[in-house]
Amino acid sequence: MKALILSGGKGTRLRPLTYTGAKQLVPVANKPILWYGIEGIVAAGITDIGIIISPETGEEVKAKTGNGDRFGANITYILQEQPAGLAHAVKIAQPFLGDSPFIMYLGDNLIQSELNLFLDRFKDKQTDALILLRQVPNPTAFGVAQVDENGRVLHLVEKPKVPPSNLALVGIYFFANTIHDAIANIQPSARGELEITDAIQYLISQQKQVEACQLEGWWLDTGKKDDLLEANRIILDTTCLTASVLGEVDEKSQVIGRVQIGAGTKLVNCTVRGPVTIGSDCYLENCFVGPYSSIGNNVNLIDVEIDHSVILQGAKVIEIHQRIVDSVIGQRVQLVAAPQRPKALRFMIGDDSQIELT
Ligand code: DAU
Repeated sequence: MKALILSGGKGTRLRPLTYTGAKQLVPVANKPILWYGIEGIVAAGITDIGIIISPETGEEVKAKTGNGDRFGANITYILQEQPAGLAHAVKIAQPFLGDSPFIMYLGDNLIQSELNLFLDRFKDKQTDALILLRQVPNPTAFGVAQVDENGRVLHLVEKPKVPPSNLALVGIYFFANTIHDAIANIQPSARGELEITDAIQYLISQQKQVEACQLEGWWLDTGKKDDLLEANRIILDTTCLTASVLGEVDEKSQVIGRVQIGAGTKLVNCTVRGPVTIGSDCYLENCFVGPYSSIGNNVNLIDVEIDHSVILQGAKVIEIHQRIVDSVIGQRVQLVAAPQRPKALRFMIGDDSQIELT
C-alpha cells in the first residue's frame, strides 16, 4: 500500500497568504497542515509516500518537509507542471504508484479519525474505491454523492449547482489500481480539470465496486480564513494538552492553563490564557494572549491584546490599542500603530488582504 498526497494546486482561496507560500504549509497550531496528513498516513502503517508539488511552491514544500526521515517515511516528490486536476495528479504519479493500491490524501484536509479504520475496511472488502462522505451545509462547494438506502454509491458529481444530496466527498480516498484505467477514460470537466470525482463515477458506471463510509468526528478543509481558525481551535484543543514552557517568563507575567512556549522566547509583563501555542525566539511585552491563539516563531508583540487568532512567523505587531480577534496575520507582516487615537492610518497591504476596522 502506498500513499499519494496532493500538495500542488494554486491555493487561491487562502490568498493573500498563499501568494508567497504553499497553502499546505500554512500552520495549524504551529505545524504545517500537510504534516498532519503525513503523520496520519504513517500512523496507519504506510511509509511509501509520494507528494505532488507545483513549480511555484514545490521547492518550499520539499525544503520544509524533507525526505521523510522526520516522519519515519520515505517521501518521493512528483512535480505537476499545471494544476490540471486531482485525477491528473494521479496520472502523473503512475510511475511512482505502479500497480499498488493507494490512499490519496488532499494536502489541505484534516480529519479527526484514524485512517486505520477505513484502511482495514478497504483491504477486507477489496473494493476498487473507498470514499469518505460527510454531511455539509454547503454541498455546492464539494464533490457530492448520491447513495441508496443501503449506503451504495449511485452517483457522484463535482461542485454541482443543484446538489443531489448534502453528502460531500472528503479529500481522502482509497483506490485499487483500476483507478488508472478509469482516469484514462475521462475527459477534462467544464473547469478544464481531470476530476477524480468523474473517474470514480466511471468506476461506478463500469459496475466496479465503490464503497462509501460516513466520516465521524471533525473534518476540516482548510480553504478559507475561518476554516483555518476553526482548524487551529480544534487542533489546539486536542493536541495542546499540557503546559510546557521552554522560554523565559518574567515574574510580572501570568501563564494560565495549557500554554506552550518555545525555546528562546521571552515574555515580559504578559498574560497568556491557554490553550495557546507560542513558537521559539519570540518577544512579547505588555500583551494579553487569549485562548485559541497560535503564534509562530520569531514573532514580536508589544502592547497588544490578541484572541482566537493565528500569527505566522516573523510578524511584528506593536501598539495596537484595540483587541485583535478572529484574525490571521501572515509571515513577516508589520502591524504598527500610532498613539491612543491615531490621526491617520498608513497602510502597505498586499493584494486580497482583508482589514476590518470595527
Ligand atoms: O476537500 C474536499 C474536496 O476536495 C472534495 O469534496 C472535492 O470533490 C475535490 O475535488 C476537492 O475539491 P477542492 O476544490 O477543495 O480541491 P482543490 O483544488 O482545493 O485541491 C485539493 C488539494 O489538491 C489541494 O491541496 C491542492 C491539490 N491539487 C489540486 C489540483 C487541482 C493538486 O496537487 N493538483 C491539482 O491539479
